[in-house]
Amino acid sequence: MIRPILRYGERPLHERAADVTAFDDDLQRLIDDMIETMYAAPGIGLAANQIGVLRRVFVVDLSIGQNANDLIVMVNPAFVEREGTQLEEEGCLSAPGFNATVVRPARAVLAGLDRHGEQQTVEASGLLARAFQHEMDHLDGILFVDRLRGIKRELIVRKIQKLRKTGKW
Ligand code: NI
Repeated sequence: MIRPILRYGERPLHERAADVTAFDDDLQRLIDDMIETMYAAPGIGLAANQIGVLRRVFVVDLSIGQNANDLIVMVNPAFVEREGTQLEEEGCLSAPGFNATVVRPARAVLAGLDRHGEQQTVEASGLLARAFQHEMDHLDGILFVDRLRGIKRELIVRKIQKLRKTGKW
């Protein structure tokens, strides 16, 4: 089922998600919904916070459903390694219409569980490393807008506040 994606300002996006403890039907349904919602958006990543569920789960698929091998489901993930930096423009399904350059690791190794609770480790560089850091931030209640500084951040936040006030957000 496609779920509504929350937008900047809605509380679950700004809160830390809790560890998944049960690999039950509810979790399977949540993950299926997240994948469907990500593909429908369309986007290359989605964290559970974005559909209002404060659980440490995210999905990433750089091919947006074109290549089954590209789908990554991460439960209770943690970085094992992060190195280097990259500076690229990015956006977020929870802040539609906005983009900004964000500093991200050039390379990252992420360990966590798959949807059945099995251990998995994924090595990433480039766009995938960027996506991992973006989704990990979501699980900690941080959006890319929060990673910006000074005037850049203020400009986006002010525009969003204006949109919210007029009911266009
Ligand atoms: Ni996002």
